[in-house]
Amino acid sequence: MVIVSNRLPVDRVVDDRGDADWRPSPGGLVAALEPMMRSQDGVWIGWAGVAGEDIEPFEAGGINIHPVPLSDQELQEYYEGFSNDTLWPLYHDVIAQPSYHREWWETYVKVNRRFAQAAAAVSAPGAVVWVHDYQLQLVPAMLREERPDLVIGFFNHIPFPPYGIYSQLPWRRQIIDGLLGADVIGFQRVADAGNFSRAVRRLKGYETRGPIIEVPIDTDDPEAGSHRHVTTDRRGGLVRTVLARAFPISIDADQYQDLARRPEIQARAREIREELGNPEKIMLGVDRLDYTKGIGHRLKAFGELLEEGRLSVEDVTLVQVASPSRERVETYRQLRDEIELTVGRINGDYSTLGHTAIAYLHHGYPREEMVALYLAADVMLVTALRDGMNLVAKEYVATRVDEDGVLVLSEFAGASDELRQALLINPHDIEGLKDTVMQALAMPKRDRTRRMRALRKKVLTNDVARWSASFLDALTRSAHGDHPLQNP
Ligand code: G6P
Repeated sequence: MVIVSNRLPVDRVVDDRGDADWRPSPGGLVAALEPMMRSQDGVWIGWAGVAGEDIEPFEAGGINIHPVPLSDQELQEYYEGFSNDTLWPLYHDVIAQPSYHREWWETYVKVNRRFAQAAAAVSAPGAVVWVHDYQLQLVPAMLREERPDLVIGFFNHIPFPPYGIYSQLPWRRQIIDGLLGADVIGFQRVADAGNFSRAVRRLKGYETRGPIIEVPIDTDDPEAGSHRHVTTDRRGGLVRTVLARAFPISIDADQYQDLARRPEIQARAREIREELGNPEKIMLGVDRLDYTKGIGHRLKAFGELLEEGRLSVEDVTLVQVASPSRERVETYRQLRDEIELTVGRINGDYSTLGHTAIAYLHHGYPREEMVALYLAADVMLVTALRDGMNLVAKEYVATRVDEDGVLVLSEFAGASDELRQALLINPHDIEGLKDTVMQALAMPKRDRTRRMRALRKKVLTNDVARWSASFLDALTRSAHGDHPLQNP
């Protein structure tokens, strides 16, 4: 089993004496795959998070780590540039304007090839290789070219945009070809898989039957005979079939529940409430500081509720955790300035010496502290303008072992497909958002429990172990020529 992702599941930390060590890194993907990788003798290929250093393979927490080096220029052009200033805004419905630079694309191709070569070098004959996310969309085809014996899966953690948006990309055909190198391509939502299939039909003219895509085989290719699940299409031509469908990702729900039951974490939740001046209600937002998260819309709604006197700082405090992210990309710098200006204005206008309107925290926190915050929060605000899944929504639900708390959730986050008992909102509709916030704050205990119970059932059943098992099951079955069309 080989995992390929831009980031490794570990971060390098240097202590006071200058000694370097590795600790598990925060973040959705790592939390999602760590438990499964530990139980297998897996290899994880990825970038170690520091530019310009060539680090030898090592073992961390039972996982074999193979770092892929990136130079400072590659970091700028492949990671900050093409991945996070071209693909990220494009795939999130152009909330921010994507930049298209040919040099960035060339570096993206070059770095994708390096990841593919690293995977080809460590994989045993017939091994299963699982490639992750938008930074590495060319890896499946590059890997198939070098190692047609491998079973290749790809999972896209972010949305796949509608054709009208996707078609802006100058390299739209190359990306489709890259992805179609996989046997199974997973998406968060049914709609994402549908957008991808449409792009395949429009740009390549390939036939699709439901989630199955028929990719013609070049019979002059000497490797043509080595493809799996080869069949003939309607015109009698040879095709290989690729499965593209939704596998909604989740979290290690038990881990959040276990933390939530620990007395010291419950005590910390009470302490947080006291530190905030014992407001009647606490609302919470937890996001990477990213323009896709709708933090500005959330602050606007809260500011207006204070201005109109529908809320007062004695009654309600908003805690906003905004963890630093992609700080060298200009759009992220501007966003930080905008958010911090807004927080400063609202606090200046409405805070009192005893009560702060918004407790704004530009930090990342350990999981224990996050769980205490979730337990302390009467209302959780997830107001993303576009989000592949949003694991914070699922973490909040898994944490609430007391079956209390209200989740306000954007319909533009993938999580809203499953978490139907949340209070669903359109974050662009500020009046609607304000009314829903008021509804959440006033919701009687009986209703809160009823909704939270239903939400918890969803998250506890569909946890990350089930997600990875169902993706890997589809992948293994595809190796035997069988494509499961739906989740079991
Ligand atoms: C999203 C992406 C991941 C990415 C993470 C953090 O969840 O889907 O691929 O790792 O954000 O972003 P970063 O740029 O810091 O890796």
